[in-house]
Amino acid sequence: MEQTPAERARSLRTLIEKANKEYYLDDAPSLSDSEYDKLMRELADLEKSYPELITPSSPTQRVGAAPRTGFGQVTHLTPMLSLSNIFSKEEFLAFDKGLRKILASDSPIEYICELKFDGLAVSVTFRDGLLEKAGTRGDGATGEDITANIRTVRSVPLECRAEDFPPLIEIRGEVILTHSEFARINAKREETGEQTFANCRNAAAGSLRQLDPKVTAGRRLIMFCYGAGGGPVFASQSETLERFAAWGFNVNPDYKVCRSVDEVLDYIDYIEERKKTLPYDCDGMVIKVNSTALQNEIGFVARSPKWATAYKFPGLQAETTVEDIELQVGRTGAITPVAVLSPTALSGVVISRATLHNQSEIDRKDIRIGDTVIIQRAGEVIPEVVQVVKSKRGLLSTPFRMPDVCPVCGGKAERDVLCFKDGEPVEGAVLRCNNALCPAQQKEAIVHFASKGAMDIDGMGPSVIERLLQKDLIRDPSDIYRLTASQLEGLDKMGKKSAENLINAIEASKDIPLEKFIYALGIRHTGEKTAAVLAGYFGSLDALRAAGPEELVNVPDIGEAVAASIYGFFRNQTRVELTERLLAAGVVPRGPEKQQTAGECAGKTVVFTGTLSRFTRQEAEALVRSAGGKASSSVSKNTYMVVAGPGAGSKLEKAEALGVRIVSEDEFVALIRQPGPSSQ
Ligand code: IVH
Repeated sequence: MEQTPAERARSLRTLIEKANKEYYLDDAPSLSDSEYDKLMRELADLEKSYPELITPSSPTQRVGAAPRTGFGQVTHLTPMLSLSNIFSKEEFLAFDKGLRKILASDSPIEYICELKFDGLAVSVTFRDGLLEKAGTRGDGATGEDITANIRTVRSVPLECRAEDFPPLIEIRGEVILTHSEFARINAKREETGEQTFANCRNAAAGSLRQLDPKVTAGRRLIMFCYGAGGGPVFASQSETLERFAAWGFNVNPDYKVCRSVDEVLDYIDYIEERKKTLPYDCDGMVIKVNSTALQNEIGFVARSPKWATAYKFPGLQAETTVEDIELQVGRTGAITPVAVLSPTALSGVVISRATLHNQSEIDRKDIRIGDTVIIQRAGEVIPEVVQVVKSKRGLLSTPFRMPDVCPVCGGKAERDVLCFKDGEPVEGAVLRCNNALCPAQQKEAIVHFASKGAMDIDGMGPSVIERLLQKDLIRDPSDIYRLTASQLEGLDKMGKKSAENLINAIEASKDIPLEKFIYALGIRHTGEKTAAVLAGYFGSLDALRAAGPEELVNVPDIGEAVAASIYGFFRNQTRVELTERLLAAGVVPRGPEKQQTAGECAGKTVVFTGTLSRFTRQEAEALVRSAGGKASSSVSKNTYMVVAGPGAGSKLEKAEALGVRIVSEDEFVALIRQPGPSSQ
């Protein structure tokens, strides 16, 4: 019999949640990705036709929130603690002895050993069975609000209807990425010219601390749950984990209750072997006293429990020699020194190259060609040189200096300008070839220019660009607009119809939103989001090009490094000429329809102090940001205005002393509602 829409929605949800569980909790998916996507699409379509069927915990509601401009804060019910570290079995025996001394008992303590996951600690609050909010650890008491992002993590239930599920509980755990997912994300970032993540932990943290939850949703994060804040107290940690699993939370199965010290020591050996085959990073084992009553008796020291400790495994290292140091030139022209190593096996992978980052890193570690060095796989993935074995340094070891020209095009190599101090540029460590015509950068720059988020020229992908470069039909992005259908037809594998389509796509790309054009230019540190901020703020390419460093730093969300890079871009002769050629070819960057209202607070820093009656502090700060200003918590001579409510103390005094403008909450509201002079 036909199902009603409500029935169909319910069964789709059940099927999807079952598939999530199989994929994330049981590691045994029974659906292919496309079958899963099909179910999700059907549910989304159904909910579109019958919006009344949407529930907050429907799987379609995992990604719903729009990008934000900053993170709010969450206060944890009980502090999130950290752990002491031990590095040897001897230290564990001493740890155990210490605990028995505290307990004044000679009988063996029951421990629970868990994997120590190398990710980001988070706390997820459930109220009345529904996921209410989620936060990072922060300072232990308060963390960043990452609710919208945690909702996209499919191993975290949005709802729990178990009978014994408490009305309020914070479920805590670690959010991690698998090695394969890390590799996938980095490969994609490499393709788009974005900086790759150094290891799984950085990638997990970077993915979770995204302003746009859609980005987080595109990364397959996993949460392993290992503790609670608030909520019921179970008799033991093992019982807590069992309840978590029964409630549908993701509990890692590699834990063991050990009834003696010997069992713990054996389990350390077991996990050290086991971790080699785990698909994610595990940097040790957490050993906890299992009984809650004993935990309470043992207590805490500063911010760590005395009843638990982290047994850290030694990093994976090996010794090899630096045969040579080579230079690599990336899309953005960064010239990176790379150590060519005598091939060495490290945890089952042969390592023959390792990045040395830059000259100051080489100097700091005093790495010379011919040196014997210790290498390690940071985060167990990317090899790095840890240190030189100086005792093995031979007479022939040769110091290395970065060149002052690009090794590919011979153009001048310059250090990045990070920011300006007293009008003077402050240089960073990265050496860069600033010749936009450098062949090493050329192809990647054109690929970026034509890509979806940029000019979005359908059909102008890496292989077509490669062929056009080989035939010398293009050298930089502006040449695309001079291509003719007959030139394109002459390319391998390109028929008349595809050539025509491509010419049409090129033509269509000329009418382009300003933000996409800014992004397409490939300005360093200027991703899609920054480009959108710039377009919104300046409204036209001319205004952006004319902006000085100070004006750029005043744009919300633009830091000094980004401002310096934008400023430098529009003052680099080659880049200026390229931009001009694009405009001359007929590209018209369209400014946003409505310019952001530049009110009283635009570009200014506002500080709140004392009690506010109309808003929470966060709401008031959000109001300032939405008016193009910045909210800060400390008063300085750069503060534009202090909004003081009852109970204001030292900040008010400081503002008075510095002669900073002070207004009441009501005056602030009146000001923020009034458009400023520059928007008229
Ligand atoms: S328990 C009161 N269990 O390690 C104990 N932590 O170095 C607090 N971690 O901040 C944490 N795996 O981010 C616990 N199985 C595990 C863990 C674990 C990883 C992290 C956690 C914590 C850090 C402390």
